[in-house]
Amino acid sequence: MIDKVTKVFNQGRADEVTALSEVSLTVGDGEFVSLIGPSGCGKSTLLRLIADLIEPTAGTVRVAGKDAGRARRDQDYGIAFQQAGLFEWRTVRRNVELPLELRGLGKAERRARADQMLALVGLEEFGGHYPAQLSGGMQQRVAIARALAVQPPLLLMDEPFGALDEMTRERLQAELLGICAQTGTSTIFVTHSISEAVFLSHRVVVMSARPGRITAAVEVDLAARDEAARQSDAYFEHVTAVRQALRGIPASI
Ligand SMILES: Nc1ncnc2c1ncn2[C@@H]1O[C@H](COP(=O)(O)OP(=O)(O)OP(=O)(O)O)[C@@H](O)[C@H]1O
Ligand SMILES: [Mg+2]
Repeated sequence: MIDKVTKVFNQGRADEVTALSEVSLTVGDGEFVSLIGPSGCGKSTLLRLIADLIEPTAGTVRVAGKDAGRARRDQDYGIAFQQAGLFEWRTVRRNVELPLELRGLGKAERRARADQMLALVGLEEFGGHYPAQLSGGMQQRVAIARALAVQPPLLLMDEPFGALDEMTRERLQAELLGICAQTGTSTIFVTHSISEAVFLSHRVVVMSARPGRITAAVEVDLAARDEAARQSDAYFEHVTAVRQALRGIPASI
């Protein structure tokens, strides 16, 4: 999907930055991949390249067998980024409806789907509110509902749970896994939390900074992803493996 992608910002200028260097990553159907690495290693840049918000300096990006631009126009992915990015002049419900409008869905169907998504993130009572009337964490949940609304084959999520309290975060992690399993969605999920990455992922991809590269990948093989899994030995072994990979120690599992 991503083949030897390099991204250089401000090329040829004094402030030139090589954000990514020859990064290759393929995500299988229904696979959940987390990206983890120090601040500035290029995680957001990688997602923005896949979403066709910026162009690679070298290398290719393909989504669902199409080039990144075609996939964007076809709404082949949903995105939920670090900033919620809601439209202030639209109500919460109409923010969630936006991608459905772009798809040409009728009013009643849009509304039903938006309400269903809002219920999923626990905001069914806030459909008529405006984003400014919500807390940061609630706004983030609206962004997640919007990303899920078209049930895209690929979800791109950039620290979507970073602003949430621990309880909400754990609940949404479980919900997200349920949705991904139900819809067969592939997911690329950026997080700074090792435990979150291990709980959610089939594979945790570890990156290093300057230039951003993939340095390791830890396959996560857990029997189940439930409350008991968070306490299991296998879970802690994987958390240790990712922590070591982040420190540059080769993974032993
Ligand atoms: N539009 C831009 N112009 C110039 N440099 C940029 C731009 N966007 C990102 N960079 C640089 O690219 C590098 C990677 O940034 P990126 O935002 O991808 O990091 P990140 O891994 O998402 O970090 P964080 O964990 O803090 O979100 C940084 O050095 C950053 O300064
Ligand atoms: Mg980032």
